[in-house]
Amino acid sequence: MNPAAPVAAETPASYYERHIFFCLNERKNGENCCAQHGAQQAFDHCKALVKAAGLAGPGRVRVNKSGCLDRCAAGPVVVVYPEAVWYSYVDQSDIDEIVESHLKNGRVVERLRVPPHLGR
Ligand code: FES
Repeated sequence: MNPAAPVAAETPASYYERHIFFCLNERKNGENCCAQHGAQQAFDHCKALVKAAGLAGPGRVRVNKSGCLDRCAAGPVVVVYPEAVWYSYVDQSDIDEIVESHLKNGRVVERLRVPPHLGR
């Protein structure tokens, strides 16, 4: 094996075409966290939309919960792989757009992208 070989050359096709992770982290000490900004409701909404659209399952889309993704300053956040695109959302219509544009059609929703400098 050549340690300098690109990973993609030896990696089989991804089990899911796309994976979206929702930070659902909740801080009990009152510090800012995604759970304070409707993350659970957004996750539930996304999961239902993906299922209703027939996008869920192997070879397609997986919607997953996550703990803190360490980008709390942009929260609530999701990240979509394999593109590694981070989004901030405000309401369910933002989730609708991420599902329709990115998860269904592979088009990044530029207006919802997290600015690169925003971390914790
Ligand atoms: S609490 Fe959501 S990214 Fe940290």
